[in-house]
Amino acid sequence: MITVSRADKLGPNAREQMAKIFAEGFKDWLVFFSKDENQLAAAFGHMFVLNQFYAAVIDNEIAAIAACTNCQTPSVKLQPKELRKHLGWFKGSLAAFVLKKEFEAHFKNPPSDTGSIEFVGTAAQFRGQGVASEMIRYIMESTPYKEYLIEEVADTNIPAMNLYKKLGFQEYRRTPVPQMKAKKIGITNFIALKYRKEG
Ligand SMILES: CC(C)(COP(=O)(O)OP(=O)(O)OC[C@H]1O[C@@H](n2cnc3c(N)ncnc32)[C@H](O)[C@@H]1OP(=O)(O)O)[C@@H](O)C(=O)NCCC(=O)NCCS
Repeated sequence: MITVSRADKLGPNAREQMAKIFAEGFKDWLVFFSKDENQLAAAFGHMFVLNQFYAAVIDNEIAAIAACTNCQTPSVKLQPKELRKHLGWFKGSLAAFVLKKEFEAHFKNPPSDTGSIEFVGTAAQFRGQGVASEMIRYIMESTPYKEYLIEEVADTNIPAMNLYKKLGFQEYRRTPVPQMKAKKIGITNFIALKYRKEG
C-alpha cells in the first residue's frame, strides 16, 4: 500500500532516502559533478526543505519524492560548504554557483493560487507502478491551489512527459535550447506544463 505524507512528518532517515532517489533520478544532469550516485546523494542531501516536500512510502521505504511550493518559497537551499565537502573545492563551488541559480530560481511574478511541482522522482525499483501518479494526485488534492505548474521538463524525458500528460497537465510554454547546446545535451526544448483544477 502507498501512503503519501509531507517529508517533515517522516522519520530521521527520510533525508538520506530522499537523497538517494534524487541522485538516481537526476544523475544524468549532475554527471559533471560526479558519476558516483552515492557521492551525489551525500552532496545534495542537505538541500531539501522538508516541509516543501512530499514522499510516497511503501512498506516503510520512501518510493518517490516531489516538492510542491507556492511559487515563492524555495523547495531546496544549497549550501556551498556542504557541496565543497562532498564534491571538492572546485566542483563544489561550481555546483553552488550554477545550480543555485537553477534549483532556487524564483518565479519573477509569482502567480497567485498556484503551486509549483518540483524534483519529482521515483526510486528505480518502484517505477512503472503508478507511484508518482498517486503521489502527485495526493499533492494536488491536499494543497489549496487552483493551478499547478511544472517548469522545465526536457522534451526527451518521455516517462515524465507521459506521466504529466496522463495526470492532465498541458503544455503552456516551450523554450528551445540553442542549437549547439541542443546537440551536446540531446534536448531540443524545455517544456513548461500547467494543470487547472476543475470547479
Ligand atoms: C518520471 C518518473 C517520476 C515516473 O515515475 P513512475 O512512478 O514510474 O510513474 P507512474 O508509474 O506513475 O507512471 C505514470 C505514467 O507515466 C508514464 N510512464 C512512466 N514510466 C514510463 C516509461 N518508462 N516510459 C514511458 N512512459 C512512462 C506512463 O504514461 C505511465 O502511465 P501507465 O503506467 O498507465 O502507462 C520516473 O521515471 C523518474 O523518477 N524518472 C527520473 C527523474 C525524472 O526524470 N523526474 C522528472 C523530472 S521533470
